[in-house]
Amino acid sequence: MSSNTNNNTNQAPAGASAAAVAEAVTEHILSRKNSGTQINTLPYVPTGQNDETQARMMQAMFSPTSVVAAKPTTATTTAAAAASHRQWHRFDQSQIKVLLLESVSPVAIQTLEAAGYQVESVKGALSEAELVERIQDVHVLGIRSKTKVTATVLAAARRLLVIGCFCIGTNQVDLAAASKRGVAVFNSPYANSRSVAEMTLANIINLSRQLGDRNNEMHKGEWNKVSKGCYEVRGKTLGIIGYGHIGSQLSVLAEALGIRVVYHDVIQIMPLGSARQLRSLDEVLGCADFVTLHVPETPDTKLMMGVKELAKMKKGSYLINASRGTVVDIDALAGALRAGHLAGCAVDVYPWEPATNGPLFESPLVGCPNTLLSPHIGGSTEEAQRAIGLEVSRALVSWVAEGVSFGSVNLPGLALKPLVPNPMTIRVTNIHRNVPGVLRKINLLLAEFNIERQSSDSNGEVAYLVADVTLDQGKLEDQLRTVHEGISKLEENIMVRVFY
Ligand SMILES: NC(=O)c1ccc[n+]([C@@H]2O[C@H](COP(=O)([O-])OP(=O)(O)OC[C@H]3O[C@@H](n4cnc5c(N)ncnc54)[C@H](O)[C@@H]3O)[C@@H](O)[C@H]2O)c1
Repeated sequence: MSSNTNNNTNQAPAGASAAAVAEAVTEHILSRKNSGTQINTLPYVPTGQNDETQARMMQAMFSPTSVVAAKPTTATTTAAAAASHRQWHRFDQSQIKVLLLESVSPVAIQTLEAAGYQVESVKGALSEAELVERIQDVHVLGIRSKTKVTATVLAAARRLLVIGCFCIGTNQVDLAAASKRGVAVFNSPYANSRSVAEMTLANIINLSRQLGDRNNEMHKGEWNKVSKGCYEVRGKTLGIIGYGHIGSQLSVLAEALGIRVVYHDVIQIMPLGSARQLRSLDEVLGCADFVTLHVPETPDTKLMMGVKELAKMKKGSYLINASRGTVVDIDALAGALRAGHLAGCAVDVYPWEPATNGPLFESPLVGCPNTLLSPHIGGSTEEAQRAIGLEVSRALVSWVAEGVSFGSVNLPGLALKPLVPNPMTIRVTNIHRNVPGVLRKINLLLAEFNIERQSSDSNGEVAYLVADVTLDQGKLEDQLRTVHEGISKLEENIMVRVFY
């Protein structure tokens, strides 16, 4: 990264007080080693707000970038030289460009606009080529499940700091490529737990009363008033497999209806209410009238409900799967339903799911008795969308404004306290390759100052370090530049940001 020359009229004059210098020095500097991105320095602009620290952190952003090619041509060399003499200028939060795709919740737009960002929201997903075109100036990208963020897209995203997946999964993002470029990725894995738990409870009652079949008959004009094989749920036993966010919510709701709850989980979890943890899956299968699956997709849960396990379920019991499609052997389930061993099932997730809406669904379960099929909508409610919008947009702002990586799916998660309210204290954040010796090099640079606090963590190839450092009065600008440039030049550096 080439250095910036501070010849702006906002600069504090020589011999000015520490506070005046503080106002004139860099507020936030960012550089990303491998992308060839250069970002200008910015002077701190006092806000006069009560919570000064918060205000400063929210302002800690950067100016438009200048691109310096890895192997400069004559034209780019000239551009780089011009950039190195770029004047400092006042920070303007409206320079932060946010691109939201796939009709992200309005609450996310409000949160990001309230942070001062420039938000563009697009209704649908974009193709790779369209995204490459649109992402070049974007600092914050928000997507849902249909937009693919490939290595090619990330290579074009020279200014990108963060991707918010306003959904549960992050398979649509090349996480390894994002990590290598220092782009954090956030999602919202649990904001829709309540929605799934409620739909599961609805399915328990609907299965017990054969409501799906009655509904189908009525739509064909057939009146079929029966009570045989229809039951109240009160006093029945619900077996929950996976007592995590959804399973435990469901446990509480089910008990309110007078249902007895037992559960199986691979870890010991304290029961809620009167629920009981049983020692094995088989024990639950052998005693439950309803078995509901709420496990993650792992090698251990793949096809965990196959021919043998279904046979261990009580005759006349019901199976519900709103977890992942790979957990149940669908052919075996269809067989158990048609043979009358199971009295019904409700399935929301499938081994293969259509990518778009339309008449595309096929499954051995179609036409099975008392079988409720839904198109992966367990978590799809307005409330869940709003909660996801709020959670992800707040994570985006915390990352951009404070370097908080807690909850990131691809970078080590550090929950950070706010920056010490001292005009001489800066926050240095650095993403680097996780190889021996990097911390020693960085700490050599920081060691001459007072390190207020320091955290670091790694996950495989990438490590993240945050240090709040108090610099010396009167030398703030030089020292800040020394720290920033010293870390930027490390061969292991992926990205360094300095917040002031
Ligand atoms: N249908 C939908 O729309 C929808 C929406 C949200 C989540 N989900 C899915 O629901 C599932 C559960 O979500 P969650 O948020 O409750 O997850 P969670 O991580 O909070 O809980 C999962 C629980 O399963 C347990 N577990 C893991 N492996 C197990 C095994 N082999 N046997 C027994 N227990 C095991 C874990 O210890 C954990 O307690 C996930 O697969 C998730 O993808 C579906």
